[in-house]
Amino acid sequence: MKYKIGICQFNPVLMDVKQNITRMEKLLTGVKADLIVLPELAASGYLFKNIDEVRKVSENAYTGVTANLLKKLAAENNSSYVAGIAEKYKDKLFNSAILVNPDGEVHLYRKIHLFNEEKNLFSPGDLGFRVFKTKNDVPVGLMVCFDWIFPESARTLMLKGAQIIAHSANLVLPWCQRSMITRSIENRLFTATANRTGTDDNDGSSLTFTGMSQITTPKGEIIYRLNETEEKVVTAEIDLEEALNKNVTPLNHVITDRRSEYYYQE
Ligand code: ACM
Repeated sequence: MKYKIGICQFNPVLMDVKQNITRMEKLLTGVKADLIVLPELAASGYLFKNIDEVRKVSENAYTGVTANLLKKLAAENNSSYVAGIAEKYKDKLFNSAILVNPDGEVHLYRKIHLFNEEKNLFSPGDLGFRVFKTKNDVPVGLMVCFDWIFPESARTLMLKGAQIIAHSANLVLPWCQRSMITRSIENRLFTATANRTGTDDNDGSSLTFTGMSQITTPKGEIIYRLNETEEKVVTAEIDLEEALNKNVTPLNHVITDRRSEYYYQE
């Protein structure tokens, strides 16, 4: 099946939710695709100095400003969207991603592998790795940023049936884009990493994000890679049949050839 997938790369302004929502709306209005992936913490920015700052910009996964924007765009464009949010749930804060479908349904993933200072700001994800049906029942698995460094994340999503991994990110280390090519090859699926650009400055601290959002194929080809700074949405047509074929050679299959009895079990 042909499927049009997109990545939206931009530079969110720290703590300025209103401006970031407007920016996302501007970038996405009129762009037709089956699925578009946006960065991690897209409406809030990233470099919080304390929990109070996160709380100020956090939102409900199902009824918050990001969910509402994506529901509106999903209905207008008949597209599914994935975006990262600072999620408020009861007295907890999670670094989460939501998937919003054209029928208005919202699905939730909470980042499992928190990166560096995130451990002082967010609770670790408690929902497991999750695969959801997008438009036309296409199974998409969700990961957020630093989940990339643990191959188990993508592996679990593939074993749960994902044909595409939607990867919202705020990348700062220089290795992820290359690693996601391997994640694609070893799992024989598509990946869409939507990273952000720019620099967050807060109270003497500073973090610069690497851009280079990309879409990769089960053969490890990069069908799109943006540069470090551009803010734009790009789309590409993929053939999902490629993600259904798990044979590397006629006699090698990435699922059934596994020898899990020899793998380290904790
Ligand atoms: C990251 O996980 N945002 C680096």
